[in-house]
This record gives sequence, C-alpha cells and structure tokens, in this order.
Amino acid sequence: MSKSLIIANWKMNPQTLAEANRIFSSIEKGLRKIKNKKAEVVICPPFQYLSVINNQLSIIKLGGQNCFWEEKGAFTGEVSPGMLKDLGCKYVIVGHSERRKYFQETDELVNKKIKAALENNLNVILCVDKVSQIKKDIKGLSKKQFKNLVLAYEPVFAIGTGRPCSIEKARKMSALIRKTLKTNIPILYGGSVNSKNARGYLKEAGMNGLLVGGASLDPQEFIKIIKAAA
Ligand code: PGA
Repeated sequence: MSKSLIIANWKMNPQTLAEANRIFSSIEKGLRKIKNKKAEVVICPPFQYLSVINNQLSIIKLGGQNCFWEEKGAFTGEVSPGMLKDLGCKYVIVGHSERRKYFQETDELVNKKIKAALENNLNVILCVDKVSQIKKDIKGLSKKQFKNLVLAYEPVFAIGTGRPCSIEKARKMSALIRKTLKTNIPILYGGSVNSKNARGYLKEAGMNGLLVGGASLDPQEFIKIIKAAA
C-alpha cells in the first residue's frame, strides 16, 4: 500500500444532515489544499447520509460502518453490501468493537459479513483488538479475497477514551499480526487518534493508516491528522 489510508468513523454522528454536509465540505476543502497527497481519505457516515453526501462528487471516498450478510429480503433495519456499493461506497467497516459489544456480533457473524462484503467488491476494514479474533473472523477467505482486506488494530481501552495505545505496543501488535497471518496485510491503528499522536503511529509504529472516531468530526483536527501522513 503506497498511500496511507485515513478513515473517518463518524459513528452515530452528527445529528443532522446539514451538519454532516458542513463537516464533509470542510474536510473536502481542506483536503484539496494539500498538494502532496499521501493519503486515501475515507469517510464512513451514518447510512442515511451516504446518498446525499455522495452527490458532491468528491475526492473523498465513502464507506459504510456496518453491513448485513444477505443481499435482500425480510431483514428489517438491515443494509446489504450491494446497497452500500450502489451508493458509491468503496469500503465498509466490519466487526467494530461497539458492534461486538452492543449488538452481540460474534466472530461467526463478522465472518459472514466480511465474505458478503468482499463478494460485492467492497474493501473491508476489519476491526480487531486481539490476534486470536482475526483467524476466526477471516476463516475461509481465499488468497484473492485477502487483497481487499485491511485490518484495523483497535484496542478497546483506547476507543473514545482519550487514552491511546502506546506507539510501542501498536508497533508490536502490527508485527505480531503479520507474523501470525504470514502476510503483509495493511494494518491501521484506531483508538483516540488525534493530530498530536497520528504521526507516531504512521512513522514510528509503521501503521499503514488510521481509523479515526471522535477527531474526524472536527474538520480542522482531521485535516491535521491527514497531513501527518504527508
Ligand atoms: P475514537 O474511535 O477515535 O473516538 O477513539 C475510534 C473508533 O472507534 O474507530
């Protein structure tokens, strides 16, 4: 992966479409001003903003925060990978720790979602906080499918807490993941990323990118994080 992947996970924010448009436009404006772009920037807003935001023909890529494994049918409240693709998404986040915790997503369900997303030509950002999870989550994937998979190491203690993981621990984890999986898969770091620590994860810990929650809702802060990849 030549460019860093900087992903904004807006979670269930902001509360209005007007605000979502404002944040998106500000990030877009800031991104256009960066001359030497060393990052692919992806925004994962709540589902309902995807179609509207997509109209803006942007240099920012879009992603979903979750998806279901079936293509269509009687699954009230769910969104299929094909629907995300149809709205212009290039990525989807799967297995975020908040989904595992609040929606009882098991490794088995995460595995089904990953396969469905990959079959629909979405790039999957698989969130994990333990190496042991990964093998269960990616069970049965072909070598070819692996190419569209990115891992995000997100230690639960660091998510939304303002207590980021040490650079050293992040570096060790990415080395351990690569050694265990025997592949050079791109690995992102996520958990209390901000403009002050971003560079450390990218340059010192050797991460291929960042998954940014809270700080991605502040356009100025998020642009500074993107600049850390330059
Ligand atoms: P945070 O969230 O940056 O707010 O800690 C990261 C994430 O949950 O992906």
